[in-house]
Amino acid sequence: MSKKVYESPTILKIQSSMSKAGLPSMQHKIRDNIDGISISELINAYGSPLFVFSESKMRSLYQEAYEAFSSRYPNVQFGWSYKTNYLKAICSIFHQEGAIAEVVSEFEYEKARNSGVEGKDIIFNGPYKPYHSLLTAAKEGAKIHIDTFDEISDLEKVSDELGVKVPVAIRLNMNTGIEPQWSRFGFNIESGQAMDAVRRIEAGGKLLITGLHSHIGTFMLDANAYKLQTVKMVNLMKEIESNTDFIIEYLDVGGGFASKAHLKGLYQPPEVVVPSIDDYAEAITSALYENLESGNYPKLYLETGRHLIDEAGYLITSLTGTKRLPDGRMNYIMDAGVNLLYTAFWFKYNLELAEKRDGMMEPSLVNGPLCMNIDIIDDSVMMPRLKRGDHMIISPVGAYSITQWMQFIRYRPAVALIDTQGKHHLIREAEELKDIETREVLPEYLKA
Ligand SMILES: Cc1ncc(COP(=O)(O)O)c(C=O)c1O
Repeated sequence: MSKKVYESPTILKIQSSMSKAGLPSMQHKIRDNIDGISISELINAYGSPLFVFSESKMRSLYQEAYEAFSSRYPNVQFGWSYKTNYLKAICSIFHQEGAIAEVVSEFEYEKARNSGVEGKDIIFNGPYKPYHSLLTAAKEGAKIHIDTFDEISDLEKVSDELGVKVPVAIRLNMNTGIEPQWSRFGFNIESGQAMDAVRRIEAGGKLLITGLHSHIGTFMLDANAYKLQTVKMVNLMKEIESNTDFIIEYLDVGGGFASKAHLKGLYQPPEVVVPSIDDYAEAITSALYENLESGNYPKLYLETGRHLIDEAGYLITSLTGTKRLPDGRMNYIMDAGVNLLYTAFWFKYNLELAEKRDGMMEPSLVNGPLCMNIDIIDDSVMMPRLKRGDHMIISPVGAYSITQWMQFIRYRPAVALIDTQGKHHLIREAEELKDIETREVLPEYLKA
């Protein structure tokens, strides 16, 4: 029998964050694989830290969402929200499933076109669309969603330049009972601004309003807000159709469905507070049926991002250093922090260990490698005693982390995808110095 390793005793200060009963949980969660591939195999192949995406999970989340809507309403189209994750491999999976692209800048527009998406299959949102991008989008038949009165003028110039009437949609904002209200984007319904925009477009005679769009927020925990949103959009549609010659062919209700992530400040777990995709679908489609005359059902667009990918993404990290803090907490320094998980400010992640560790669970601070005090992944989590080289798997991190990560202090790591057959693939290489310096220019006089 091998000799047991000596472990120094620990005195635990009872802290309110430890648990409701004041007693620490004696279990820690283990994840030794992702979709059947061991954590060590993934790290050996691509290094640490490492983002890993599960194709099976993405496809099943998409199919479940599509089914929830298409089983209730006949004419449904999802647009994959590029800003949620615009890696080519990720977008291709959603496009293969049938989603078109939803973009919010000329950069994202170009990215979608570069991936082979036709202009007609691009929804072009965003508060700032440079003139040249509006011109391209109009030429290519994209669905352009107008955000401001200035954009109306720009698009009228585009219409003159192309010699055609340009089909457009207007973006709307409204009170759906959600605070704070997202009133910064598009035209407000309640104040009459939205109808003013319609009249302005009608008077110009160069644009055709064919759709209405609104996106009421992200991580929306109240499905009923979507019901209010849909009712208000349908009412505006009726007002437009009875006062102008415009025919509204589609309503786009945006994105915002929550994932099973733990938003900080919520007492109950996501399994309790997050509505199901059926709840969201029921809220939206019932509002359509209750408020539209039968036979006049516009196409329904959705721009769901987070809900379709968050739970498919993991970040594998390695422990680089440990110490005890003066307040008694253990401090674990990982090789990934808020540079890769900007969203750590809002979410409390699942932190799982790749291997079981013995020893007393104790309050621990898990932070990243940045030389910055705010680089915290979790400031109070119960962990057994860990040692250098241990791996921690952070989830769910599929939404927004790849697009919001920062090249700050450290290189951005590799991203891998596990396909539906259980094989892993590199979908983005780890960065190195040349990637960072390639756009830099050293003026001649500084070279000496
Ligand atoms: C216009 C628009 N559509 C769709 C989305 C995707 O939202 P989510 O990821 O919350 O579904 C966003 C994100 O904020 C957005 O701004």
